[in-house]
Amino acid sequence: MVQCKAWILRGLLALLWVLPAWTNTMSERCTALHTVKDQLNLTLRRRYLKQNFPINYTIQVPYEEVFRLHNISKLNKTEENVQVEHLQHLWLIVAKAGIKRILRVLPERHPTRKRYLTQLENLFRLYEQRFGTGISEEDDYPDIINDILERIGNQNFERWRSVTPKSLIDNCYRTMHCLFKECFSTEGDNYDYCDLYHWRKRKGTTPQPT
Ligand SMILES: *[C@@H]1O[C@H](CO)[C@@H](O)[C@H](O)[C@H]1NC(C)=O
Ligand SMILES: *[C@@H]1O[C@H](CO)[C@@H](O)[C@H](O)[C@H]1NC(C)=O
Ligand SMILES: *[C@@H]1O[C@H](CO)[C@@H](O)[C@H](O)[C@H]1NC(C)=O
Ligand SMILES: *[C@@H]1O[C@H](CO)[C@@H](O)[C@H](O)[C@H]1NC(C)=O
Repeated sequence: MVQCKAWILRGLLALLWVLPAWTNTMSERCTALHTVKDQLNLTLRRRYLKQNFPINYTIQVPYEEVFRLHNISKLNKTEENVQVEHLQHLWLIVAKAGIKRILRVLPERHPTRKRYLTQLENLFRLYEQRFGTGISEEDDYPDIINDILERIGNQNFERWRSVTPKSLIDNCYRTMHCLFKECFSTEGDNYDYCDLYHWRKRKGTTPQPT
């Protein structure tokens, strides 16, 4: 009996030790994501990803590097056990790939490179160093996610499409809100960031994401 109590006590102590660490990491992660969010605000996206480019300028990206809200709902609905952490990882990989695609077409001295994308790329790198992928074992990924990651990693692409630089980063912004809801919803708001309608609606009223 005494021993049992000792175990419970030890368990409690361990819990008290672990809990604050966990909540700290969570809010640190949210802080980092809010920095990313500020860097992705609409003014900056418009200036650096649209106005700094010729009208209707597009770049070629593989289909796998287009990750939209629709992809999230589709992957979430599959029979495979897709967790939000898997999708968060995919989000990060695609975001980094998108920045690289845009950088690739920019001259060395282009203001979007120097004043914007280089910093953005750094933010993502720091984020990844600090928070990793959130999942340790490669095997833990469901096949459907693994297949996508593999195609991206091996540069094994079959189909390409034209997208505007801004639309790539707009998607990054929206899917971030959907996948890290706990960082972006405030008490009492009932936004569903995963719902495209939410973004469409806001587009009509305030000059929010397009
Ligand atoms: C976006 O960020 C820039 C630079 O921090 C700031 O000047 C601008 O007001 C922000 N725009 C919005 C819509 O928050
Ligand atoms: C840009 O695209 C829009 C919509 O597709 C089109 O209406 C417009 O004429 C295009 N502008 C130029 C300069 O090509
Ligand atoms: C997102 O969906 C589109 C269209 O269904 C698909 O081509 C693309 O590969 C998907 N992206 C990812 C990262 O799965
Ligand atoms: C995935 O689906 C579950 C169950 O329908 C839902 O609770 C969850 O919010 C969805 N996740 C995302 C990221 O859409």
